[in-house]
Amino acid sequence: MLLGVNIDHVATLRNARGGVEPDVIKAARICNDAGANSITTHLREDRRHINDMDVELISKLPRTVLNLEMAMTDEMKSIAMRIMPHSVCIVPEKRQELTTEGGLDVHGQLERACSFVKPLLAAGIEVSFFIDPDISQVSAAAKTGAQFIELHTGRYSEEFGGEKEQQTFEDLKGAAVFAQNLGLKVNAGHGLNYQNVKRMKEIPNLHELNIGHSIISRAVFVGLKQAVMEMKELVI
Ligand code: PXP
Repeated sequence: MLLGVNIDHVATLRNARGGVEPDVIKAARICNDAGANSITTHLREDRRHINDMDVELISKLPRTVLNLEMAMTDEMKSIAMRIMPHSVCIVPEKRQELTTEGGLDVHGQLERACSFVKPLLAAGIEVSFFIDPDISQVSAAAKTGAQFIELHTGRYSEEFGGEKEQQTFEDLKGAAVFAQNLGLKVNAGHGLNYQNVKRMKEIPNLHELNIGHSIISRAVFVGLKQAVMEMKELVI
């Protein structure tokens, strides 16, 4: 499995003081050196952490595979078409939420999703939809022409160690296998940490995990390079 490191929260820390430290670009370089297979950033409508300049600079970094998370808006589409990241992951976005709380409803807006991804795919950008482990959402994502889905692991992460862990895990596994049978490649992420990530290996053929908060949190104590290396060890 590949490891994508989400560095949004390096920018959260920087923005807490409105200055330039910690340097987000340096963070991307360190993650690369520690073995990250891609760097993920979520350019939010309110720019609460990552900003346009960050994305621009990361996209130009040598040896860097940029995965741009973004909402399904015209503004984000034109940014992606200009910056040309390796991949985009289309996520739902609400202004008030602390983080991306659930998956995108692709099923309920299939026509819009299809026309949204068309120019991105035509430009050679890989497209992924961030969805809940729900069969109707997986089927809809497959109809858009996107090559990937990213399964939202938030419920599994919340239930980990509790009564509903197994059920939420089976939901993920079932959705992943169903998606792969439709020809989709499957990524996963949200809320994964150094403990609950281990079960991701039980899901066959997961392509990549995107992990942010737990790695940046661990980095406070052991440094970013070490935190990424430890996660990479668990994901491989
Ligand atoms: N994948 C997606 C699509 C996300 O929106 C996020 C959070 O920004 C993540 C993965 C990473 O989640 P976490 O920070 O909880 O590891």
